[in-house]
Amino acid sequence: MTSEATLDVEFCRQHFPALGGDWVYMENAGGTLVPRQVIDRTAHFMANCQVQPGEGYEASILAAERISEGRSVLAAIINADLDEIVVGPSTTSNVYVLSQALRPLLAAGDEIIVTNQDHEANVGAWRRLEAKGMVIREWRMNGETDDLELEDLEALLTERTKLVCFNHCSNIVGLIHDVKAIVARIHEAGALACVDGVAFAPHRRVNVKDLDVDFYLYSPYKVFGPHMGVLYGKRELLSLLASQSHYFLPEDDYQRRLCPGGLNYELTAASAGIGDYFEQVHERHFSGANVDARERLNQLFGLFAEHERALSGAIEVYLTSKAGIRLAGRGGAARRERVGVFSFTVDGRDSREIPEALRAHKIGIHADDFYAARCIDALGARPQNGVVRVSLVHYNAAPDVDRAITALDQAI
Ligand SMILES: Cc1ncc(COP(=O)(O)O)c(C=O)c1O
Repeated sequence: MTSEATLDVEFCRQHFPALGGDWVYMENAGGTLVPRQVIDRTAHFMANCQVQPGEGYEASILAAERISEGRSVLAAIINADLDEIVVGPSTTSNVYVLSQALRPLLAAGDEIIVTNQDHEANVGAWRRLEAKGMVIREWRMNGETDDLELEDLEALLTERTKLVCFNHCSNIVGLIHDVKAIVARIHEAGALACVDGVAFAPHRRVNVKDLDVDFYLYSPYKVFGPHMGVLYGKRELLSLLASQSHYFLPEDDYQRRLCPGGLNYELTAASAGIGDYFEQVHERHFSGANVDARERLNQLFGLFAEHERALSGAIEVYLTSKAGIRLAGRGGAARRERVGVFSFTVDGRDSREIPEALRAHKIGIHADDFYAARCIDALGARPQNGVVRVSLVHYNAAPDVDRAITALDQAI
């Protein structure tokens, strides 16, 4: 097939055991389902090589190989090199470790910019450095677009700005930021950029090299894998960070220095299953294409994106045409593309009522602040106990969306 291929959703769905029932899962921004390949790899590791890796005996050699395969896939997903990623327990934990590891590079009075749109994972750990003398500034969402605008960042950048922490797209608003342009501006100002890609990575191809980000984070459990977090850092920066683990660990072993306690062996190994799944989907659509692994991922995410765009159109039309619904990011959508994440409130309703009503239709969605409490406050959604969120990924099919829209329409 050629690049004009459209996603064979049924083929994809067959790989996800959880999709065998009659529930529709649309809380994917909270965590995605996993394909059989990930489950099998977990079971295989635990059954065959749940031993200390790195020794000369058979099971130990196998364990090390499997862990390495998993790390390779996790790096490839964002086009990072193997020695530039740290696999940790979660993004929240990885940002916390990074914030501590960066401290020796920061002096009292240095400025760090965080946003009021981000998940707290990329905010709180930085804000807490205020107690160590750093000055925290807030890049606020624009009230009309519900989004982060570059001109507002411009006004905050000073000679003392050392770091800007923002998201590739928000887990609430979903509009995609021009990270490359923002990072270029941050570098021009002499600062570093730390980008939370958790809400973006399931939907579009990430290329940390092209974006030129200094630090980038994503969580494999939102990209069809197990519960973990991945931190990318430019090699030259990782070498400057203070170890957060045992003093005797090798200087260039960033994985161990920045993941105190070590990574989860079985789940890291299982992550190679994401790669197995991606390869199968690629083979199905581009069989015989003579392209390298990087290009295969580009093609695959191109397919996912096209499919998601088609599904998102119907949801967006419904949420913007139905009276009484306030869709987050509606104002910014004319200027920016959105991943398949839609958050909204309904006039006069507690947001929690809507997922409850959809449960009767066997549709799994959720209402909350989704740990982006500052974003919820900025949107004015606190009195309604947060927003209702509908989030799609490539394994959602058109009938899922039809069912969700019908059910929403009855509930609202
Ligand atoms: C945008 C975003 N950033 C960060 C996180 C935190 O990720 P983790 O659960 O791996 O700490 C989440 C989780 O929902 C998220 O949606």
